Amino acid sequence: METSRKTIDEMLSVRDDELLVEECRAADLARRFGTPLHVVSEDQLRRNLSRFQSAFERHWPGPTLLLPSIKANGSLALRRVLTLAGAGCDVFGEGEFEAALRTGTPPEKISLNGPMKSQGLLERAVRAGVMITLDDIGELETAAAASRAVGRPARVRLRIRPDLAGQASASEMSAAGDSIHEAYQRYKAGIPTGDLLALDRVAPEIELRGIHFHIGRHSADPEVWVEAVGDLVEIIEGFRARLVGWSPSEIDIGGGFPVPRDPFGRLLPQRRQADDGLAPGPEQYAAAICPALEGGLRSIGVDPASVRIELEPGRAIYGDAGIHLARVGNVKRQAGPQPMTWVETDSSDAYLPDVNLEFNRWRCLVVERPLAAPEITADVTGRTCALDVIIPDAELPRVEAGDLLAFLDTGAYQDAGSHNFNSLPRPGTVLVHGREAELVRRHETVDDVFARDLVPEHLAEEKADGPRPWRPYLIDHVAVNCADLGRSVHFYCEVLGLELRARGESDGTDEFAITGRGEVPIRWADVEVGDGQVVELIEYGGPRPPDPAKAGDQVHVALRVSDIEAVHRRICEEGPRPADPFLIETPGAWQGARVFYATDPDGVSIELVQPARG
Ligand SMILES: Cc1ncc(COP(=O)(O)O)c(C=O)c1O
Repeated sequence: METSRKTIDEMLSVRDDELLVEECRAADLARRFGTPLHVVSEDQLRRNLSRFQSAFERHWPGPTLLLPSIKANGSLALRRVLTLAGAGCDVFGEGEFEAALRTGTPPEKISLNGPMKSQGLLERAVRAGVMITLDDIGELETAAAASRAVGRPARVRLRIRPDLAGQASASEMSAAGDSIHEAYQRYKAGIPTGDLLALDRVAPEIELRGIHFHIGRHSADPEVWVEAVGDLVEIIEGFRARLVGWSPSEIDIGGGFPVPRDPFGRLLPQRRQADDGLAPGPEQYAAAICPALEGGLRSIGVDPASVRIELEPGRAIYGDAGIHLARVGNVKRQAGPQPMTWVETDSSDAYLPDVNLEFNRWRCLVVERPLAAPEITADVTGRTCALDVIIPDAELPRVEAGDLLAFLDTGAYQDAGSHNFNSLPRPGTVLVHGREAELVRRHETVDDVFARDLVPEHLAEEKADGPRPWRPYLIDHVAVNCADLGRSVHFYCEVLGLELRARGESDGTDEFAITGRGEVPIRWADVEVGDGQVVELIEYGGPRPPDPAKAGDQVHVALRVSDIEAVHRRICEEGPRPADPFLIETPGAWQGARVFYATDPDGVSIELVQPARG
C-alpha cells in the first residue's frame, strides 16, 4: 500500500520521508551511481517542451517551432529525448552542430548561430540544409561564398540587436546594477541596426528567411518581451523599406525564459528579496508575446499567419528537469571570532558554477528528510581549495556526515559550465524515466582529466623514485590468431554483434614484419567492442601457421606505452633481447607508431605500442 505522498513539483515528491525523482528514490540513485551526480528526468523534459509548444500554438496564428538551446545541457541522450519529441535545436559552433546531427535532429529544424562562423562550417551547414543565423553583416558574404562552393542556396536569418531603449529597469543579470537597456547593449551578439538598415540587397545565393533575436535572462517579466517585440517590428519595418518586397517567414524570439522556481540572480541585491512564488510560465509568455507580435506585424503589412514563430528556451526546458546529488562529508563549526558552520560535501561550485556566474541561489533538500524544518544556517561548500561555496548562508535542517543533499533546478548550464579545478573529475548524469534510471554521461575519471596532456620526451626523465616511463597505460588491443579469417569475422561480428572497423591483407613485409614470422601472407581484421577497444583477428598463411599448443601463437595482448625505448631497455635488462622498436611507415591509422613484440615468461606474445604523436 502506498503511504501518503507529498508533491513538491511535477517530478519531485516525498514518500515515507524520502525524496523521489519521478518514481526513483533519490537515495537509491546515489547508492547505485555514486555522488556527486546529476539526475535529469526525461518525463519533465517532455512536459516542459510540450507546455511551450502548446501555449505558443494556442496563441500564434501561424506555425510554431521549438528549438531548445543545446548549450544548456550538451548530453546527447537528453537531446535525443527532445529530438524524439519533435523539437528542433539552437546550436552554437561546430560542437553543438555535431551534437544535433548525431542525435538525428532534422537539419531543417537546426538553427546554427554564433559569431565568426568559418566558411567551412557554413559550407557544412548549407550542405546539410540547416537554418543559418547570421551574427554580423560580414557573414552574409561568407554564407554566399559557402553557398557557391556547395551549389545550394543558404537558408539565412539575420540576428538583430534591438535597442531595448525604453527598458530602464534593473537587469537581473547585472552585478553592476545596469539597466536592461545598458546590459543588453554591451552584449556582442547580433548585427548592429545601422549595418542592417544600410543593406539594400542580398546576394542571389542567399535565401533570406527571417529575423532572430535573443534578449537573454534579464528579467522574468513578459512585458520585457512585449517591449522588445515593439523594437523588433520597427527594425523589420525599416528593413522592408530597404529590401522592397521582402517579408520574414521565420521570426525567432530566442530564449531567456525562467525556470519556475527561478534560482537566477538571487544572490544579487535586485533579487535577494524575491518571493518564493513561481515565475511566469509558457502560457503567460505566449499570451503576452503573441498578440503583441501579431498586431505589430499586421501594422506593417506582414501577415502573421505566414510567419513561423520560433523559440529557443534553454533553462526553461532543462532547468527544473535536473537535480544534483551530493553527500555531506563533514560539518565543521567555528565558534569565533566569526561564528561559521560549513556543511562540506563531495561536490563543488565547479560542478554547479551558476552560483558564481549567474548568482544563483539553489534550493537544497536533505534527501532522507526533505520536509524537515530549517534549524541551522550554514555555508554549503565543496571540496576544492577555493572558497567553493555552493550555497552561502543556507537554511537547513540539522545535517551530519553521510547525509545526502539534493540541489534543485540544476538541469540547465551546470554540467555544461562545469570545470576541473583541482583536477577533479566531473560527475556523470543519470536519466530517469518513471521507475527506470540509466547513466547517460559517465563520471569522468582522473585519466579523463589528464587525457589531453602531453609531456615532452625531454621532460619525461627516468628517475628511480619518479615516473616510470616504461609502464604501459592502456590495453591497445587484444589479438586472436585464427585459422580462417572469414569464419572468425562472422563469429565476432554476426554472432557477438561487434563492429568490423577495418580489414586488410599483407605480405608480411610491412608492419607485420614485427611479428618475426618472415614473409608470410597475412589477412587481418579489426573488430571494435566499443569506446575504441579493438580485438584484432589475424590469419597467418605460409609455412608457419599458428600452433594451437603455444599460448603465444593463439593470442597476443598489445599494451600502449608512452616511451617505447624505455620499455625496450627495461625488457632487455630482464632477459632475452626482443627485436628493436619498429617505426610503421605504411600510410594508415598506424602510421608513425613504434612497435615491438616481446614474450612474457609463459611465452605469450606481448606487443608494445607507442602511438604516433598527435
Ligand atoms: C541565441 C540563444 N538562444 C537561446 C539561448 C538560451 O537561453 P536560456 O537558457 O536563457 O533560455 C541562448 C543562451 O545564451 C542564446 O544565446
